[in-house]
Amino acid sequence: MSATTPQVQAVLLAAGKGTRFKSARPKVLHEAGGAPILEGPLRALEALGVAPITLVVGMGADAVEAAYRGRGRFVRQEPQLGTGHAVLVAREVLQEHPGHRVLVVNGDLPLLRPQTVQGLIEVHQEQRAAATLLTAVLDDPAAYGRVLRDAARRVRGIVEAKDASPEERRGREINAGLYLFEPGPLFAALDRLTSGNAQGEYYLTGVVADLVAAGLPVAAATTEDADEALGVNTFVELAAAHRALVERRLRELMLSGVAVEDPASTMVGRDVVVEPGARLRAFTFLEGHTRVAAGAVVGPCVRLENVAVGPEALIQDHCLLRDCVVEEGAQVGPFAHVRPESRIGARARVGNFVELKKTALGPGAKAPHLSYLGDASVGEMANIGAGTITCNYDGNTKHPTRIGAGVFVGSNSTLVAPIELGDGAYVGAGSTITEDVPQDALALGRARQVVKPGWARARRERLSSMKGHG
Ligand code: UD1
Ligand code: CA
Repeated sequence: MSATTPQVQAVLLAAGKGTRFKSARPKVLHEAGGAPILEGPLRALEALGVAPITLVVGMGADAVEAAYRGRGRFVRQEPQLGTGHAVLVAREVLQEHPGHRVLVVNGDLPLLRPQTVQGLIEVHQEQRAAATLLTAVLDDPAAYGRVLRDAARRVRGIVEAKDASPEERRGREINAGLYLFEPGPLFAALDRLTSGNAQGEYYLTGVVADLVAAGLPVAAATTEDADEALGVNTFVELAAAHRALVERRLRELMLSGVAVEDPASTMVGRDVVVEPGARLRAFTFLEGHTRVAAGAVVGPCVRLENVAVGPEALIQDHCLLRDCVVEEGAQVGPFAHVRPESRIGARARVGNFVELKKTALGPGAKAPHLSYLGDASVGEMANIGAGTITCNYDGNTKHPTRIGAGVFVGSNSTLVAPIELGDGAYVGAGSTITEDVPQDALALGRARQVVKPGWARARRERLSSMKGHG
């Protein structure tokens, strides 16, 4: 915020019961766009440097505090008697900064953007208002509070849909749930608030009519982006918020130079970074702190959670990767499962029906088909044959497997850990390896083949002569 902006603190309302969710989980922790609902308004405030931030918590307070510790001060509202009551409960801590204007933000506005909060602050200053509220004009204003204006278009108050007359309900301008107040008038009006309404609650919105009645100026800023006013009260609205957040993110990415083949089936979370020049194919889900570098191609039908994908890497159809690193030019899939703490080295290859867990593949190493590699390190340019399994678990403890550089493991081998194959070693197909293999050695761990000439023909003849007697 610029030096000329008067100081603004915020109170974020996150105590509500979330009754309409019919869910045991605290409402503001439900996720949209890859992060809890509360993350949206909180980040908008953090981006502007609004401080301090006070979070009013109540329903599921322990969980909300645990998720947001360090991001603000907490005040508990118990019981939850409405949005006005929530601000009253925070009054004492808010008054520790008596000169600060007070931004009140509903916690259920996941699409709120910092520039909109900034715009509201500017309108408030220009109009020297006692209060300024954010409004939006909606085609279907549904259950939102309606903004009432007089003939001169001055704000007169806000009426909740449940308390509105049919005439008032026809109004399409709604209260979005973001307000900036001068502290003195706010606290004076809150003291006069009553709960004589359809829900028997202390409505913060009642403050507006009170300020108007006291002859104080109330201003409004109207957002162009109606999505931004989406207050999430149900799983239906949560899904709409999710879609809108993802669309917003994908649009930013596409305009920055990321090729998104099919935005409607693609999900990119809030904290994901995709470099220009990367390509996301249909049904790609990028979650958590995933990063995709330039030139990489991901999908179709891939889910990455906290994965770093290097330049020019290729993650092909139907893969799930979590908490791992895929280095430059590596290829994964189709149908691979890469579990946490794995690292796929530069130009290495992990093919179909391969599972890695806590496994590092060196540069150029290959596990092209049907393998399980767990707690393993695989050296540069090693080749893991189809069907190779590291037996890393003895039913009690996990053990490591070390495979050196340039090792060749023949198909369908079983490597019983702890075990080490030295650089350049060679394992014959179908081996069960239980002892370390020195560098450049051949290891065979299987029964010797027996060949009995003519045995099969003799058996056929014996069987057909028995049939003749039957
Ligand atoms: C509120 C507004 C409505 C506006 C809408 C915008 C009031 C009375 N109404 O309605 O005019 O159009 O938001 O989305 O404010 N909360 C508490 N403690 C409480 C009650 C609520 O912390 O006792 C929190 C909730 O967790 C939520 C926010 O305040 O984050 C808004 O509460 P909610 O019940 O969702 O209000 P709406 O009915 O949507
Ligand atoms: Ca709401």
